Amino acid sequence: MKQHTQLKLAVIPGDGTGPEVTAEALKVLHAVASLERFTCALTEFDFGGERYLRTGEVLPEGAVEQLRACDAILLGAVGHPDVPPGVLEKGLLLALRFQLDQYINLRPVKLYSGVETPLRDKGPQDIDFVVVRENTEDLYCGVGGFLKKGTPDEVATQSAVYTRKGCERCIRWAFEFTRKRNNPKGKRLTLVAKTNVLTYGHDLWDRTFREVAREYPDVQADYNHVDACCMWMVKNPEYYDVIVTTNMFGDIITDLGAILQGGMGVAAGGNINPDPGGCSMYEPMGGSAPKYTGQNVINPIAAISAVAMLLEHTGYPVAGARVLRAIEHVTGTKMKSQSAGKMGYSTTQVGDLVVEALAAC
Ligand code: IPM
Ligand code: MN
Repeated sequence: MKQHTQLKLAVIPGDGTGPEVTAEALKVLHAVASLERFTCALTEFDFGGERYLRTGEVLPEGAVEQLRACDAILLGAVGHPDVPPGVLEKGLLLALRFQLDQYINLRPVKLYSGVETPLRDKGPQDIDFVVVRENTEDLYCGVGGFLKKGTPDEVATQSAVYTRKGCERCIRWAFEFTRKRNNPKGKRLTLVAKTNVLTYGHDLWDRTFREVAREYPDVQADYNHVDACCMWMVKNPEYYDVIVTTNMFGDIITDLGAILQGGMGVAAGGNINPDPGGCSMYEPMGGSAPKYTGQNVINPIAAISAVAMLLEHTGYPVAGARVLRAIEHVTGTKMKSQSAGKMGYSTTQVGDLVVEALAAC
């Protein structure tokens, strides 16, 4: 991807602590832009719970088109205690993933230096893999319904939808990504699914995976059932290089991955449309954390990591790598913990520390 002279960025700070972590992420973005000599034009959008409660609208008319015109989107968090579950998730987050066809959900599981993992005897050299989660199909399609709702005979169905096109483009991207990542310990792509039970949908995934694998003889094509994968992630995380998986399983194993890398204060993800002109969205995984809102105690490292990913995948890989080095300097030499309120610094101070570290990295 070509570097644009100016990065046109849409910013959705969102709900709860979203605006606080987004502010620190943008602070770091501006600092690295000035060091690496590029400019950013930001457009802020006030989508989220507050706007929904005020106007009844989640994604207003024309919003998707405005977002699409940007090079990338930075999202803080969605989720509001006064909004029923599903409204913002479906109406904003999933709607953007689907409408912008962000078919890759990229979740690096990397233990930064100095960060504590719940795994005894494991360190940064052991926990460094990437999950490529399909992001537009599966149980997330919203296919299903009720029969005899509210009666003792009620029936509910919720169908997983898989298409050849949908799994093939994700699998192919994952092979390309594994090749480029070029792990010195060996390039390995593990398909995580449940072929022993999901004998239609995951058979399609498995056949497609094997076919595409033939084009990548330099990548070891590997398979794990999802339940076994959960055990191995905890017992031998160093086994994994890149995992490719379906949407629902990917959702679950990436939360497991997040805790291995130090928790929601650290983990970030990208919703990527890799097609030419595609608009991708990057987000910290932490959610809106309403109880910490406005206290300047939430960890902004995940949001800053989201900026690093955004830069890496939007044509600014040098700037992205620089942000990552600065993050690791701060986690490795400054912060006491990655938990809200226990960092030894406030939210804004952590942002300042990363900015300070950038100059020297
Ligand atoms: C995630 C989140 C979302 C998902 C929710 C908020 C809809 O858990 O990005 O992993 O399930 O994809
Ligand atoms: Mn999730």
